[in-house]
Amino acid sequence: MPSLVTMPRSLAARIATFNLSKPYPITIPRPNGPSKRWGQSPTALVQRHVRVVDVIRETDDAVTLELETTDGRPVEFRAGQYLTHCFDIGGVTIKRAYSICDAEGDRLACTVKSIDGGEVSGFVHRGVAVGYEYTVLGPSGDFALPQDDSVPLAFLAAGSGITPVISMIETALRRSPSRDISLVYASRRQTEIIFARRLQALVAKHPQLRVVHVLSQPEPGWSGERGRLTGQRAAALLAPERSTEVFLCGPMELMDATAAALPIEPDRIHRERFYAAPQHTCTVPTEPQALEFRASGRKVTQRPGETILDAGLRSGLRLDFSCTVGGCAACKIRVIRGAVTIDEPNCLSDQERADGYILSCSAYAQESAVLDA
Ligand SMILES: Cc1cc2nc3c(=O)[nH]c(=O)nc-3n(C[C@H](O)[C@H](O)[C@H](O)COP(=O)(O)OP(=O)(O)OC[C@H]3O[C@@H](n4cnc5c(N)ncnc54)[C@H](O)[C@@H]3O)c2cc1C
Ligand code: FES
Repeated sequence: MPSLVTMPRSLAARIATFNLSKPYPITIPRPNGPSKRWGQSPTALVQRHVRVVDVIRETDDAVTLELETTDGRPVEFRAGQYLTHCFDIGGVTIKRAYSICDAEGDRLACTVKSIDGGEVSGFVHRGVAVGYEYTVLGPSGDFALPQDDSVPLAFLAAGSGITPVISMIETALRRSPSRDISLVYASRRQTEIIFARRLQALVAKHPQLRVVHVLSQPEPGWSGERGRLTGQRAAALLAPERSTEVFLCGPMELMDATAAALPIEPDRIHRERFYAAPQHTCTVPTEPQALEFRASGRKVTQRPGETILDAGLRSGLRLDFSCTVGGCAACKIRVIRGAVTIDEPNCLSDQERADGYILSCSAYAQESAVLDA
């Protein structure tokens, strides 16, 4: 099989497109640049075995998994970070990122919203019960509170985008109970508001916290904001001061439009995108393949089904990675020689592809390969 990374860009792009079973965009935007939001997390290398100790139904289509580590050691995380959850589904390990939804220092919990046809969210909703054990990686991510506990904060969340946001709001209020915080939260209906009671309790306790729910399809009797949330409207409802740090977690178009409408310096606007994880759009090799990591001089065998990252880590190489689901580029390495294919969608830019880069977490050597790592 020809290498996607050594052939001309246009041809590589065409093959990648032909491999797609669904019309994915080829590139996941990295809105804050290659490494600011997506910088390598120092804790991302940590792999922990966890047990589900409670399953809490938040709404008809959202459940929270409360977790404990099987070795009893706590997982330290910053509010806003996520864990990469590795579920064994039908004998295959499938990974997805889920943000931690509790305040720093609290229990470890993640909330999963069911998505139509969603492989992992469907599995969690149907098959995960108290006692279920699996592995998580991380925590990872730089969607985090500023160091300065006095700056005002404003949050925009839509749907399951509330998960990192509630963790950040609760953490911020614990550090500084009278902090100025606004949240604009878009949901479809009242019954679909995730953490409605938790938010209500926070508002009752902290008068400086302002929560505005915007419902696109409210039930009769709803007296709050309604209708489609545009960027202009979100910016007006957030009403930030010049010094406010703004955090956005929702659909890409809404985040872009809101960022454009906010009278705030771009470096004060932070985004978390719940992009779709890459699907197995390329052929997964069924034979072992020899990998040579040029920088370290190590030779490693990639077993059938393993990604290049899996093979390297299993062999004890210290390779950079963070999300493991194709969205951060922390695991980006250049292929010097050999045919390597990558699952799509992923966050490699056209230029990175043309320069021969792959994401080791989502890539498979189809023949012997030499890598610049
Ligand atoms: C950093 C990060 C944090 C995340 N945190 C959370 C969280 O706290 N809670 C949560 O519920 N989800 C979160 N997600 C999304 C989550 O990782 C999965 O993408 C989501 O659960 C869908 O996975 P699935 O296997 O069910 O769907 P898949 O089988 O992967 O996809 C099924 C279909 O749904 C589409 N799709 C996939 N993901 C989405 C999406 N997010 N929105 C709309 N369509 C989608 C796919 O393109 C596909 O057509 C987060 C994602 C990232 C990158
Ligand atoms: S670890 Fe994030 S893209 Fe590979």
